[in-house]
Amino acid sequence: MKVLVVGGGGREHALAWRIAQEGDHRVYGAPGNPGIARIGQNVDLTVDRIGEMADFAREQGIDFTIVGPEAPLIDGMVDEFIARGLKVFGPKRAAARIEGSKVFAKNLMRRHKIPTADFDIFDNAADARTYIEKKGAPIVVKADGAAAGKGAIVCQDVPAALDAVERIMEERVFGSAGDRLVVEEFMVGQEMSLLFFTDGETVVPLEPARDYKAARDGDEGPNTGGMGCYSPVPLVDDSLRNETMDRIVKPTIQGLLGEGIRFRGILYVGLMLTNKGLQVLEFNARFGDPETQVQMPRLDTPLIEILQACSSGRLHEIDVRWKTDAAVCVVMASGGYPGRYERGKVITGVQDAEADEGVVVFHAGTKMDNGNLLSDGGRVLGVTAAGPKVADARDKAYQATARIHFEGSHSRKDIAAAVSN
Ligand code: AMP
Ligand code: GLY
Repeated sequence: MKVLVVGGGGREHALAWRIAQEGDHRVYGAPGNPGIARIGQNVDLTVDRIGEMADFAREQGIDFTIVGPEAPLIDGMVDEFIARGLKVFGPKRAAARIEGSKVFAKNLMRRHKIPTADFDIFDNAADARTYIEKKGAPIVVKADGAAAGKGAIVCQDVPAALDAVERIMEERVFGSAGDRLVVEEFMVGQEMSLLFFTDGETVVPLEPARDYKAARDGDEGPNTGGMGCYSPVPLVDDSLRNETMDRIVKPTIQGLLGEGIRFRGILYVGLMLTNKGLQVLEFNARFGDPETQVQMPRLDTPLIEILQACSSGRLHEIDVRWKTDAAVCVVMASGGYPGRYERGKVITGVQDAEADEGVVVFHAGTKMDNGNLLSDGGRVLGVTAAGPKVADARDKAYQATARIHFEGSHSRKDIAAAVSN
């Protein structure tokens, strides 16, 4: 088969890497990255070029397309492919609103009694201010639309919350994403994410993966896209997974279906385990990054079969199995990330790192230039290793990381450190 993966980060490299091993498939990445180029072919198209992406798929006879990032899902890439009779994995625009609009997601949860923080919605700054003064702090202010993961502002006092309203609604720092606001109660608890395959009716959980959001060891420093990951996660037991299924995922999928929206793709549920029980922080409509980097090595059933079944409403026919092996991913980031950083640093040692069995280096922000591999993003590489236990995979991932060099690189030293098995 010819399979097109839309996107060019570590998540997309992990998806392409997985599919390339599943049979005689030709894998394309658009725009792809140097890691994808080693197992397939890059296509010079950015993810915002929806029409051209569909033209490419038709002209090249692509049999199946997987859309990785949220932006093209929110913008309707899947709708365009379906309208042209092309087979594709991911939610349509109406379903991707669950990630694209926090107002939509919160109202959906309210209508279907899905547990989440108490909230109100505002389309003007004056009413938002009055509400914040009445409720007090801590409180959370969120821009409605997609704001590159920066649209949720946790405010420890009332002046900070009023300032957040000012920046979003009056200074318009997130543009039209800030036309409306969600102001919600601050929740205390342990944060975790669970992901599910769904065809709009049947729901199947992915193996849990724990992500490290903070830039520095001990969860210090600013939030990033994710500095590393491990799977499985002992904290997530069957009862927690079943409770998430019954109280959150099924009512969400059924609720959408009852409103005429069939969600086909990945439902990514961000959760807070509070003393009042599980509450939803947010939904995403896509695979996680770097979660995918540790889930793909652990998947036993061919990914392509699962994704095709999701897209065609046959997920109930698939037995989704996972390996018992663990996996750990350590992200190597550019110096200064998530703040300002420089690109174009020469990367050495990737091949040496991959010489160990079970190690794969996923490319997140790299480019090739005159035969040299260069850094080209904040998160540069996801050094991933598999092993019988989390501790084995962690040791192997760190040994591999030590063989890779580029000027200014930094990684957390405590990924999976607290996991004893
Ligand atoms: P979101 O983009 O909505 O997931 O928010 C980003 C981050 O802000 C979350 O991962 C939480 O750490 C934090 N956060 C968001 N909403 C709340 C809330 N209601 N209470 C406490 N923390 C929150
Ligand atoms: N690792 C967090 C995310 O993919 O949203």
